[in-house]
Amino acid sequence: MSEKTRIAVLASGRGSNFVSIADAIGRGEINAEIVQLICNKPDAGAIDAARARRIKVNVLESKGVPAAEYDEKLVQALQSCNPDLVVLAGYMKIVGKAIIDAFPMKIINIHPALLPSFPGLEAQKQAFEYGVKVAGCTVHFIDEGVDTGPIILQKAIPVEDYDTDESLSKRILTEEHRLYPQAVNLFSEGRLKVEGRRVIIDRS
Ligand code: GRF
Repeated sequence: MSEKTRIAVLASGRGSNFVSIADAIGRGEINAEIVQLICNKPDAGAIDAARARRIKVNVLESKGVPAAEYDEKLVQALQSCNPDLVVLAGYMKIVGKAIIDAFPMKIINIHPALLPSFPGLEAQKQAFEYGVKVAGCTVHFIDEGVDTGPIILQKAIPVEDYDTDESLSKRILTEEHRLYPQAVNLFSEGRLKVEGRRVIIDRS
């Protein structure tokens, strides 16, 4: 078997996507290892989830630290664990150029909307209030824009008449927990090729 993909995860909050990936790895569904969880908030739920799974945690608090200084520290922290892939899992900070340049097309994110619609914060609410009939989630590579990088996978979710913002968000999250491990697995198996804005998936 080929070597395990080394993954670093960046999170700021609850950490349910982190858990979905860690548990898919734990079940042997992805040939990878989470080498470190880096959190910019000391009270992030993801921290307890990582400790419970004996995954190394690095709390790199961002509060009060100027963005450029923080990014420099983050690049150092990431480089010291030598990841093949950096997974953003509810990481609530803009990823600066220094980080993107250090890990080109090696940073991925999940967004709770069908991009390019509804980028930014509260995407599920934006979509619900707009009145869309189809919502969803997107896994994409990170580039310098906000939620603008090449799209890896998307999952569409119908919006029902009885939905509320909360019920829709819950269904989107359930699909995120399926989609993100799939995308991580495709990356880890070397099946993703980026050609300009398009990500070609080798399904052979
Ligand atoms: C998810 O909805 C994800 O799409 C967005 O932030 C949220 C993180 O949730 N980027 P969790 O911390 O993974 O539970």
